[in-house]
Amino acid sequence: MEERMISNEMQEEDASIELSLRPSSLRQYIGQTKTKQNLQIFIEAARMRNEPLDHALLYGPPGLGKTTLASIIANEMGVQFRTTAGPAIERAGDLAAILSSLEAGDVLFIDEIHRLPRSVEEVLYPAMEDFCLDIVIGNGPSARSVRLDLPPFTLVGATTRAGLLSAPLRDRFGVLSRLEYYDTKDLCDIVERTGEIFQVGITHDAAIEIARRSRGTPRIANRLLKRVRDIAQVKGKKEIDLQTTQEALEMLQVDPVGLDHIDHKLLLGIMDGFQGGPVGLDTIAATIGEESQTIEDVYEPYLLQTGFIQRTPRGRVVTPKAYLHFHREVPEA
Ligand SMILES: Nc1ncnc2c1ncn2[C@@H]1O[C@H](COP(=O)(O)OP(=O)(O)O)[C@@H](O)[C@H]1O
Ligand SMILES: [Mg+2]
Repeated sequence: MEERMISNEMQEEDASIELSLRPSSLRQYIGQTKTKQNLQIFIEAARMRNEPLDHALLYGPPGLGKTTLASIIANEMGVQFRTTAGPAIERAGDLAAILSSLEAGDVLFIDEIHRLPRSVEEVLYPAMEDFCLDIVIGNGPSARSVRLDLPPFTLVGATTRAGLLSAPLRDRFGVLSRLEYYDTKDLCDIVERTGEIFQVGITHDAAIEIARRSRGTPRIANRLLKRVRDIAQVKGKKEIDLQTTQEALEMLQVDPVGLDHIDHKLLLGIMDGFQGGPVGLDTIAATIGEESQTIEDVYEPYLLQTGFIQRTPRGRVVTPKAYLHFHREVPEA
């Protein structure tokens, strides 16, 4: 699968900039007002009681700021931030080793927590609930279980697929926060903040233009700004203005609402081949030469969420909004 400019997954070029762009306090974290307000209260209360924060689960699509928020929680609590990820922990013993190395109050961040093997998950239950580890020593009839105390800590889990979490694990989180897609204003603030860190001037209307094309996602906004900056530099511009931005993004094949050539191929394929649908997923896949699974998991979610296509019992339908986007007449129903 080719890498897309507007993918919300972390790409190699993001890794080099994300660390420097990551806000380090709740104050610097833009948007997500409800989540921030809740966390602020929980953090203050925990600090007043001199206790670790309740275990927190952050969920939502990639690139919205889950990892960033987890590290901010540790900063605001004034404790160490330890990170690992579901796929990295294969055996119960791996997790036991991590847990027993924690210090009092630490934040343990488990990214992609829905990918923890079930046998590992079971180690987490007593750790989260009673701050202890149940270890089995020996095997067969002589095996016995020993309980080890752990220092109190905060588990922060992140997942893009909250639905895949088992109920017993989900129930052990005291704080559940769903991160939402960002609106244009918040994304514009993020672009302007990133511009300051990059030490590059950008006009307000250019920042709004990038925000509009960023699919509600800070990671994409930062990536687009970086690319636009490079193009502006090559063109010898001292400041990124609206025209340069529009030209750059056109060159990068990101259209005014953040759709790229693959989105176009999908939408136009249904319009031209099937009068706008309904058409089954497998038929679309065969027509445009992509896997059904890829269309469903990667290409379709943003188009569904923004209402360019709809799912019906008889297949996918392109909406009038999509026809208008391509300046085409909406066919009679
Ligand atoms: N609320 C925010 N304010 C400012 N920048 C943000 C915010 N959320 C995310 N970012 C930026 O987007 C990048 C991706 O965020 P990240 O926390 O890695 O997302 P996730 O873990 O949800 O995939 C970060 O490096 C950060 O620069
Ligand atoms: Mg992350």
